[in-house]
Amino acid sequence: MKILVTGGAGFIGSHLVERLVELGHGVVVIDNLLRGNKIPPELINRISFIHGDVRDQKLVELLVKDVDVIFHFAAVLGVDVVADQPVETMDVEVIGTRNIVNAARKHKVKKILYASTSGIYSHSAIVQTALSEEVNVDPRTSYAMAKRYNEIYLASHYEESGIDCIALRFFNVYGERQDNRMVIPRFFEQAREGKELTVFGNGLQTRDFTYIVDVIDACIALLQVDGFHIINIANEKEWTIGELARKIVDITNSSSTISYLDAPKKRYDYEVERRIGSSEKLFGLTGFKPKTELDFGLLQLNTLE
Ligand SMILES: NC(=O)c1ccc[n+]([C@@H]2O[C@H](COP(=O)([O-])OP(=O)(O)OC[C@H]3O[C@@H](n4cnc5c(N)ncnc54)[C@H](O)[C@@H]3O)[C@@H](O)[C@H]2O)c1
Repeated sequence: MKILVTGGAGFIGSHLVERLVELGHGVVVIDNLLRGNKIPPELINRISFIHGDVRDQKLVELLVKDVDVIFHFAAVLGVDVVADQPVETMDVEVIGTRNIVNAARKHKVKKILYASTSGIYSHSAIVQTALSEEVNVDPRTSYAMAKRYNEIYLASHYEESGIDCIALRFFNVYGERQDNRMVIPRFFEQAREGKELTVFGNGLQTRDFTYIVDVIDACIALLQVDGFHIINIANEKEWTIGELARKIVDITNSSSTISYLDAPKKRYDYEVERRIGSSEKLFGLTGFKPKTELDFGLLQLNTLE
């Protein structure tokens, strides 16, 4: 197939591009290189790479021609980045997704797989064990609100035109090439440099960490699924941030200590006390669900440096 990956130079996108090329697909990437280019250099000549913005309607329309499937992953993210640039965050989500879907409908693209987020559950996990897709969502940041808007926007396009759309609610993805906007690379960096690992809050808040290889396996499995779906991609285990910090100090043999700080203002995500997802729906549709243990994933990361 010919597959367009928006945000393909990013962390998740670059792993997806790698896998799609391995599987023999023709890959087109559009990315504005906000975070540099994470696509392995040896792959660059095997794909079409376009340095551009998903908000550029004409460019998007041009790229979508003859494409079979779109993975729409371009986004502005990171708790601090989103807090500092809420309008830019929403613009990229809303305008970018509108351009992608309109071009996809015009050029009869079969399917769009869109990167949503577990962040839209917000505080819902306090009353529910593992979050299923049926739980009421509670988006509070510009980022989460725009992701939720896009889920409903895609559902509406599916209803009107029958274009297959899958919204992927990723739960704290981690792995090789992720940068230190996210907690795991930040802790590794602090531990390796012998600096304090900085935990915001009391460290008892939990997250469900999903390894990149599982995330890509899920994306590939979902290529076979038709219709409109919202699907969690979660590891179904929760770890406190304090435990995570301790694990990384141990794995890296670091002399670092762990400090617990008040979260900076407007960093709402740090206040979410609990997050654990259920991947039962994913399993029901594809026979696959994430399985990599956090300890294994962290050990893999430790071998990289
Ligand atoms: N990493 C996670 O844990 C996680 C969790 C939930 C959801 N997601 C979603 O998954 C997707 C991929 O996330 P990631 O972790 O790879 O992030 P990332 O920041 O590494 O990748 C995003 C990519 O989008 C590109 N981009 C940003 N604005 C753009 C624009 N206007 N036009 C074109 N390209 C643009 C960036 O340059 C970057 O390469 C995002 O949509 C994100 O919201 C990620």
